[in-house]
Amino acid sequence: MKVLIVGSGGREHAIAYKVSQSAQVDKIYCAPGNAGIAELAECVDIKAMEFDRLVAFAKEKKIDLTIIGMDDPLVGGIVDVFEAEGLRVFGPRKNAAIIEGSKAFSKDLMKKYSIPSAEYRNFDDPEEAIKYLETASMPIVLKADGLALGKGVLICNSLEEAKEGVKKIMLDKQFGSAGNKMVIEEFMTGREVSVLLFCDGTNIKAMTSAQDHKRAKDGDKGLNTGGMGNFSPSPFYTDEIREFCEEKIYKPTMAAMKAEGRPFTGVLFVGLMLTEKGPKVLEYNARFGDPEAQVVLPRMKNDIIDVINACIDGKLDEIDLQFEDNACVCVILASDGYPVAYEKGFKITGLENFKGKDGYYVFHAGSKFDGEGNIVTNGGRVLGVTAKGATLKEARANAYAAVDLINFDNKYYRHDIGKAIDEAPAASHG
Ligand code: AMP
Ligand code: GLY
Repeated sequence: MKVLIVGSGGREHAIAYKVSQSAQVDKIYCAPGNAGIAELAECVDIKAMEFDRLVAFAKEKKIDLTIIGMDDPLVGGIVDVFEAEGLRVFGPRKNAAIIEGSKAFSKDLMKKYSIPSAEYRNFDDPEEAIKYLETASMPIVLKADGLALGKGVLICNSLEEAKEGVKKIMLDKQFGSAGNKMVIEEFMTGREVSVLLFCDGTNIKAMTSAQDHKRAKDGDKGLNTGGMGNFSPSPFYTDEIREFCEEKIYKPTMAAMKAEGRPFTGVLFVGLMLTEKGPKVLEYNARFGDPEAQVVLPRMKNDIIDVINACIDGKLDEIDLQFEDNACVCVILASDGYPVAYEKGFKITGLENFKGKDGYYVFHAGSKFDGEGNIVTNGGRVLGVTAKGATLKEARANAYAAVDLINFDNKYYRHDIGKAIDEAPAASHG
């Protein structure tokens, strides 16, 4: 069969890798893809928001299955457009992708169906928001309602900062129309865990857990980024917590979406905070996480095509989803200056060390060919250097050893990805 993947990041590279492992797949295309994905797929120069061109391409090439990796096209309704043309596609429809596309929607959903999350209020008037802040206790969290590249969340320690935040989001429109509405939310503390769920509209199958590192600098300092690295599984996501989440969060979320006439088919990303009062939802995303996909998919035993087909056909209950009993760590190599300003176009060396090397994966995010046969940097997050190990500690050592062998000018990375592993209870995995 022929598969088309829509997107161009490390997540799409990890999806392409997993799809390439399926004996059912003869040919993979990726739109638009990147220099790393080009090793596994034929990259086509069509952007993720060019729905008409993507549909025309899928028809012309007789694509059997299209997998949407990114949030923008999902929230924009790409799945509805493909379905209307009779094309087989994996991802939530527009009326379900809203669970990521509008934080106000997701907060109201959780409240209505008693799914544990932070206390909140939604606002569409900045003056009302400021009036509310004057009575609220600090720190407090402000969130632009819409998509903002993972950057639309402001954690404010003082009333002054919070008022400034309302101005940034709602008046200066720093995140564009995403800031037409906003959520003001209680500040929670605890460890964060990401769990991805395969969903068929009714049933869910939870994947193994992962822990992201969102801040740019060591010690969780600096600005929020799309993610600087992560590890899987999380030793803090115990069986007890997993069972709680299955019963009180995952299944109720699926049932809630169905009851609202918005059945969710695709991958639902649940960002959790393990608070003293139990796990609570930080956010939902309507797709695989990036870089969560990079540490979760290499550990998945199933043929991903079987699982995706089961999701689309409403037969997920027939799938026995299994993961390897090992660990995986991903360290993001970024361009110095990310997530603000950085230079691009530097030659990347050392990639050949990992071609076909068992247990190592270099997933490309911002890379391209320079026209002279070199691969050069082409973004803030450049590569996700990923390694497996029997334990989390071994995987971390392998990933950092690999990081040393790959070089480019202005290479920047965090040195403490997976440091939390050292604080894990001795009995836990890893
Ligand atoms: P989100 O995009 O909603 O996941 O937010 C990005 C990051 O902001 C999360 O990964 C958390 O680190 C932080 N965050 C979001 N909401 C809260 C909250 N209510 N309390 C504390 N931290 C939060
Ligand atoms: N790693 C967080 C995200 O994919 O949004």
